[in-house]
Parts: sequence; C-alpha cells; structure tokens
Amino acid sequence: MVGSAIMRTLEQKGMTNFVTRTHAELDLTNQAAVQAFFEKEKPNQVYLAAAKVGGIHANNTYPAEFIYQNLMVQNNVIDGAFQNGVQKLLFLGSSCIYPKLAPQPMAEDALFSGPLEPTNEPYAIAKIAGIKLCESYNRQYGVSHGVDYRSVMPANLYGPGDNYHPENSHVIPALVRRFHEAKVANAPAVTIWGSGTPRREFLYVDDMAAASVFVMNLPKATLDAHTKHIQSHINIGFGEDITIKELAEAVGKTVGYQGTINFDTSKPEGSPRKLMDSNRLNALGWQAKVSLESGLANAYQDFLDQTTA
Ligand SMILES: NC(=O)c1ccc[n+]([C@@H]2O[C@H](COP(=O)([O-])OP(=O)(O)OC[C@H]3O[C@@H](n4cnc5c(N)ncnc54)[C@H](OP(=O)(O)O)[C@@H]3O)[C@@H](O)[C@H]2O)c1
Repeated sequence: MVGSAIMRTLEQKGMTNFVTRTHAELDLTNQAAVQAFFEKEKPNQVYLAAAKVGGIHANNTYPAEFIYQNLMVQNNVIDGAFQNGVQKLLFLGSSCIYPKLAPQPMAEDALFSGPLEPTNEPYAIAKIAGIKLCESYNRQYGVSHGVDYRSVMPANLYGPGDNYHPENSHVIPALVRRFHEAKVANAPAVTIWGSGTPRREFLYVDDMAAASVFVMNLPKATLDAHTKHIQSHINIGFGEDITIKELAEAVGKTVGYQGTINFDTSKPEGSPRKLMDSNRLNALGWQAKVSLESGLANAYQDFLDQTTA
C-alpha cells in the first residue's frame, strides 16, 4: 500500500527511474539475494516500505514471523544499501514503537519510556531496531560515507492498496469488508472486537506518501536542527484521534450499512489511546490534508475495485 503510494507521489513530481521488485521476485529476508539486487541495480535512494504487516489478530497469531521477518528485511535492506553506496534511505516504522501507556499525544521522546503493548511487541521491537540501525549507520558512517538514513513513524494507515483480508487486516480495511458484507447479506448487526472505546488516529496513505517524500528531501541541516542523533525518528500523524465506535459508525455510513453495531468485549483491543504528537513534522512544514470522510470513500471504492476485479 505505502510503497505504491510513494511511487505515485514521486511520479507526480516527475520521477520515472524506479527500481522495484515484488515479494515473489525478491525475498528480502534472503541476505544474499538482497546483496545481489543492490549490486546489480545500484539505486541512489531507498524507500524501505516492505515489511510483514497486520492487525491485532495477525500480530497475536504470528509473533515469530513478525519479529524474525521484519528484522531480516530491514537488516538486509539497510546494510545492503550501505554496502552498495546508498547515501539516502527512508525507513518506515510504526507508532507501535511507543509504550502502551505513553503520555498522549505520543511525542518522539516517548520511545523507551515504558513497556510496549504485548500483542504487537515483537513487531515493535523490530521497528525500534530499524530506527537504531539507521541511527547507528548515520553515527558511524555519516561523515566517512555520507550516510543519511531517516526514519518515519506513521499512525494507522488506510487507503488504496490496503489488505482487506477477513482476519489479517488492520481495523479500517477489516471494518470496510465487514460492513460491506453485512450490507450485501442484509445482516441486522455487525459485531466489532473490543469495547469500541479505544481511541486511534488514522492517516490516509497518500498523505503518508507525501510526508515520506517530504522527509526524505528535507535538507540535512534542517532535519538535524529538529532531531537528535540518537532520537532521529519523526512521527507522521493526522493530528486527531477518534474512538473505534466512531470509526465503525463512519465506515458503516460510507458503506451504506443500515443495521446496528455490537461490541464483543471478550476480544483484545490493545492500547486505550494512540495519538501521535506530530509537532516535529508540523514544525518542519508538513500537515496532513485528506479528511477521514473522503479517505474512507476512496478506501471503500478501492475495496470494491479489488474484490470485483
Ligand atoms: N498499514 C499501516 O497501517 C501501517 C501503520 C504503521 C506503519 N506501517 C508501516 O508502513 C510500511 C508499509 O506498510 P503497508 O501498509 O504498505 O504494508 P503492505 O501493503 O503489506 O506492504 C508491504 C509490502 O512488503 C512486502 N513484503 C513483506 N515481506 C517481504 C519480504 N520478505 N520480501 C519482499 N517483500 C516483502 C509485502 O509483500 P506480500 O504482501 O507479498 O507479503 C508487501 O508488498 C511497513 O513498514 C509498515 O510496517 C504501516
């Protein structure tokens, strides 16, 4: 989802010379294959948007895959880039890096201030390692090799290219599917995991892509003035959060579902609130643009396109 959106954004800026591989063409957990890829293609910039990604259910069911594959992918790509002279790389992390009970909104310095949310701790640990890998390469090779590897931490993302799998998807695509299927089946009610009270922040994927390109292209001196060597990551948020109940109602409205919404409080629901403090990014001159209402309309259209294609 994000990789495609970054490419769309770069294309709109007139860039054409992309080097891409599908998962089937290049398994990024395979170090030798990744090295061979970099040796052959010699890109001069890398956006690392590949990762094993999923919602609560997937993180809970496949914790070993989440930590192992994400560590392997990022280690191979970041070191492969370095070994082949890449000076500019953007690593995509996640707001899961912050403690479960971090003060809200979560600023970049909330990292390491408390225990992580247990359901996605393996994924979060991999993402934290990715940030530290970028920072360590910058510290060791910044001056000698001109290495400038940056990290951005997005809020929950949604939009075209999302994964609408019935169990392994994130909350917005899962709700889009659930409400659509309930509408088609004329089902009287839809049941949502958890109490509906946790608050979450959602960012449209094209906003995320625009912010990624913005951060990648910031002059180094500007970025350095707003970050620290060992706390260099930048939050990318929408700026407001809503409850899962409000989100479910918004998705139901977008889809045109008329039935009732129930909540299954026996299911896990994660942190009580997750809102990023995006002041660092805002101070650098970037702000999200796409409203939840118009983003959801595009997401629903994308779901219909994907499922009827
Ligand atoms: N979506 C969100 O809400 C969200 C929130 C915070 C952060 N992020 C981060 O943003 C980045 C992009 O996420 P996304 O939502 O765009 O996820 P996505 O749509 O699932 O894209 C990730 C891509 O990585 C590929 N991939 C996974 N393992 C690979 C491997 N071993 N070798 C090669 N390719 C591999 C996947 O291919 P397959 O599908 O074929 O496996 C997929 O094309 C990730 O770093 C993610 O952690 C996403």
